[in-house]
Amino acid sequence: MPIYAPAPPAALLTPEGNPALSDWSMTAGKVHLNHGSYGAVPRAAQERQLQLKAQMDANPCTWFMGQAATLAGTRTGIAAFLRVPAEDMALVINASAGVTAVYNSLPFTEGAEIVTTDHTYGAVLEGAKRIARRHNGRVAVAEVPLDADAALVVELVMAEVNERTALIVIDQITSATARAFPVAEIAKAAAECGVPVLVDGAHAPGVLANPVPDFEGFWVGNLHKFACAPRGTAALVARGPFRHHLTPLIDSWGFPHVFPESFDHVGTQDITSWMAATASFETIEERYGWDNFRSYATSLGDYAQGLVAGAFTALTGEDASVDVGMPVDPLRLVRLPRGLAESHEDSHAVRAMISDRFDFETAITTFGGAGYLRLSTHLYNTPADYEAFAERAVPALVELARPR
Ligand SMILES: Cc1ncc(COP(=O)(O)O)c(C=O)c1O
Repeated sequence: MPIYAPAPPAALLTPEGNPALSDWSMTAGKVHLNHGSYGAVPRAAQERQLQLKAQMDANPCTWFMGQAATLAGTRTGIAAFLRVPAEDMALVINASAGVTAVYNSLPFTEGAEIVTTDHTYGAVLEGAKRIARRHNGRVAVAEVPLDADAALVVELVMAEVNERTALIVIDQITSATARAFPVAEIAKAAAECGVPVLVDGAHAPGVLANPVPDFEGFWVGNLHKFACAPRGTAALVARGPFRHHLTPLIDSWGFPHVFPESFDHVGTQDITSWMAATASFETIEERYGWDNFRSYATSLGDYAQGLVAGAFTALTGEDASVDVGMPVDPLRLVRLPRGLAESHEDSHAVRAMISDRFDFETAITTFGGAGYLRLSTHLYNTPADYEAFAERAVPALVELARPR
């Protein structure tokens, strides 16, 4: 069963004619195919953050006295990138912090239930369980087949909702399974039942031109993944009747205010990553264009997925292509040979082996007892990255999977 890869796109160059990778600072010799987990910050934004840190240390008193006012302006710049009004958005250090703020703020009652799916990011699921335990409630997990279409996802999630449901937590783009969920449709169905929704959009900024769906509820997104902001930069958007329940994770001088101003007072926290975030957005817009990023990531993803799945299939005779129902352009899944990464522990060991022996940084995930390779594509990746992976790492992974 041959799998055909479409023609590869031409590798991107900087406006000066150098490989796009020269705008980033990754270690030479390590190939970063895992932007989805940790992002990578362009040099221009790293430099901007270092300048801001120097200003902070030149006069800490002036810096911190003016920090809350600065932060309100910073919020405006980031909100414009996400295409939401600044008064609907607060900044937090990561998606986990945004999710935790929502969990800690909502008025859960005794026996409250939280509905989510078996694709939910592990730490987000554990947080939901902690809150449910605190209120003697439970987390109801909808089992969603990997290839489910939008209508089936809505049906399976809503089937878990009952009169005790206090919150639905749904991924916009899933981590282990690299697929999208129909969050706008779920939010609409939930609104008809009066249930608030928290959308985990950790991967959405940059991947989607308009990442925040139009609904009343909560949305969190990481700017330090595909949007390439310095790490520790995430947004929490809240709309509708529950937004004024939201309290920041850190009790500081924001207490007289309501969302989002209450989140602008973060004590003596270094907010230079937030302030430098727009340098990332602008660098990419000026040098490549965000729309070009999305179309390049799509064609490179199509090529990478076809090429690598084809390489596995040719060696094993097992079909390595995966139907994820609602695919995501720069995050692609390939089925690993049977016997590999079928547990979380094993997936960590396989990832480490690929990095140590072959110098490729990848994500190896497990879902439903099967192992998957998750490949990311970004501006600095080239077709040659995936060709080298198919040539060097795939035969070793097939060999590793062979029963001895
Ligand atoms: C779907 C999803 N949610 C939440 C997170 C947590 O992000 P962070 O570690 O930046 O808080 C991740 C991290 O990869 C994720 O993939």
